[in-house]
Amino acid sequence: MCGIAGYIGKNQASNFLLDALKRLEYRGYDSAGMAVLNGENNLNYLKSLGRINELEEKMKKIELNGCLGIAHTRWATHGHPSEANAHPHSDCDENIFVVHNGIIENYKILKEDLIKKGHLFKSDTDTEVIAHLIEEHFKGNLEEALLSALKLVEGAYALAVISKDDPEKIVVAKKSSPLVICIGKDENFIASDSSAIAGYADKVIYLDDGELGIITKDDYRIISIANNNKIQKEHCNIDSDVADLQKNGHKYFMLKEIFESPEVIKNSTRGRIIPEKGLVKLGGLEVLDQEKLRNIKRIILIACGTASFAAMVGEYMIEEYAGIPVEVELGSEFRYRKPIIDSQTAIIAVSQSGETADTLASLEEARRKGALTLGIVNVVGSTISRETEAGVYNHAGPEIAVASTKAFISQMTVFALLSVYFGRIKEMSLTMGKRITEEIEKMPCLIEEVLKNDEQIKNIAREYSKYRNFLFMGRKYNYPIAEEGALKLKEVAYHIHAEGYAGGEMKHGPIAMIDENFPCLFIIPSDSVYEKMWSNMEEVKARNGKIIAIATEGNKEIKNIADDVIYIPKTLEMLTPILSAIPLHLFSVYMGMELGCDVDKPRNLAKSVTVE
Ligand code: F6R
Repeated sequence: MCGIAGYIGKNQASNFLLDALKRLEYRGYDSAGMAVLNGENNLNYLKSLGRINELEEKMKKIELNGCLGIAHTRWATHGHPSEANAHPHSDCDENIFVVHNGIIENYKILKEDLIKKGHLFKSDTDTEVIAHLIEEHFKGNLEEALLSALKLVEGAYALAVISKDDPEKIVVAKKSSPLVICIGKDENFIASDSSAIAGYADKVIYLDDGELGIITKDDYRIISIANNNKIQKEHCNIDSDVADLQKNGHKYFMLKEIFESPEVIKNSTRGRIIPEKGLVKLGGLEVLDQEKLRNIKRIILIACGTASFAAMVGEYMIEEYAGIPVEVELGSEFRYRKPIIDSQTAIIAVSQSGETADTLASLEEARRKGALTLGIVNVVGSTISRETEAGVYNHAGPEIAVASTKAFISQMTVFALLSVYFGRIKEMSLTMGKRITEEIEKMPCLIEEVLKNDEQIKNIAREYSKYRNFLFMGRKYNYPIAEEGALKLKEVAYHIHAEGYAGGEMKHGPIAMIDENFPCLFIIPSDSVYEKMWSNMEEVKARNGKIIAIATEGNKEIKNIADDVIYIPKTLEMLTPILSAIPLHLFSVYMGMELGCDVDKPRNLAKSVTVE
């Protein structure tokens, strides 16, 4: 989704703004732009369609000098991708410039009204109405004009505004879209998330909904949009290391992130497992009344996309090992249903970014209905992490590639931790607690083993890149992995169509598609449903379908039926998805590379979906 950056200080604003835009690329975008105000009170801007380097090329020819500026990466919602629709947007006289992430829902009515008053619009965007509304209310003070404008606006926004008629400030505002302010020495920064400002300063302030900030070179002030009262905000530390944002020799962030999986598991479990006692310690949940936790009768996991597949794995784990009924709900559905919730229901929002609009809206709905709200979130300080009563951070580090991989591995790991945590509060034996925690401790080494198949997976991708349809099949714990494998292939190798199915459902429809041009990818570890999955493979072979199998090391018979076999080490059945997801993630990257796709930033996709 759109990314925002802003700078006010002693240095050239464009240097920071360009760097920040590059760091925000991972959010997904189709155009970019920047506006900079210089000491002579000239407000200059540049916009470009396509990648940030297009903007950078323009900046070599037309310099944007000045120590105050705002910039934006746009992911089109209203108005197709074009230079005219790229941000920053301005008022009629180009005195006021605005960047915006979110959607102004009542923009059509506002625009009609402004046109009647003589305003001239230059774009098809909802954002431009804000610039004209500010112009309409401007009497020399930018924050007062923005406050008046916001009274008329319905929808979601993270906004940054500058004006040459009130030149020594950036004014920002937030409702439902993230925005952070970073405090430096004689310079201040703003951005959509802290990864854009990591390394520039250590302290950030997360703006909350309903807040407006006035940022000058050496000061800042936050007030309430509702009543103009001053708000005191806490300073937080930035947790992104700049080194974490580099590719470390990999061609793509996505590859780097897959290869980080062993480290990710270590970070997600560090200090949280006590194998000798068969216990899991989750500091984030200790703040809660333990009696309330013990009395949870039902858990609803809310997530979107890949996070929802991790939640499905979590559902199977928690039901089997903690004996608590669990349901998985898509955020986009849950928020519009009439869910049955009570005080003994715990809602767990699962989200890498912690900003997904549907997950967040569902969480708010559940809280209103009296549920205990928890989160499994990767981005520290994100909205979901702040809106939940308690939770567990993934500690997977920044995920830059648009398609989620290492966060998915971490989410499943955290679910394994949670099933022991809840299980041991309830009826899980010490022996079982020990068995699971000991095996979780081995996972980083087992993933290292899987990653050694990298070259083989690359070759398999080369061989299969001529096919345009794939069926992924798994059962029980690996059914969600079949869904995840298909989603990743569609996303990253976007000329291919893929479907993920539960093995048992094959005869209920998808078998009709199978022929020699429709390869099937079977996730078939040696587990409790191995024989059932074997029958599915026989059915595919009988129809001349090609088979790639992900199977447990030592299984020789599988080579008699599958055309290609990728082995994963033996582990507990509940933990097999953590291993089987890795070859599928690698397969999708290499397929994407074979087809010349933009692996890290697949077309049409955004990293965090902060609008509906
Ligand atoms: C797929 C992918 C998406 C996200 C989904 C939820 O590779 O990355 O499906 O999983 O948009 O995002 P978060 O986890 O940030 O809520």
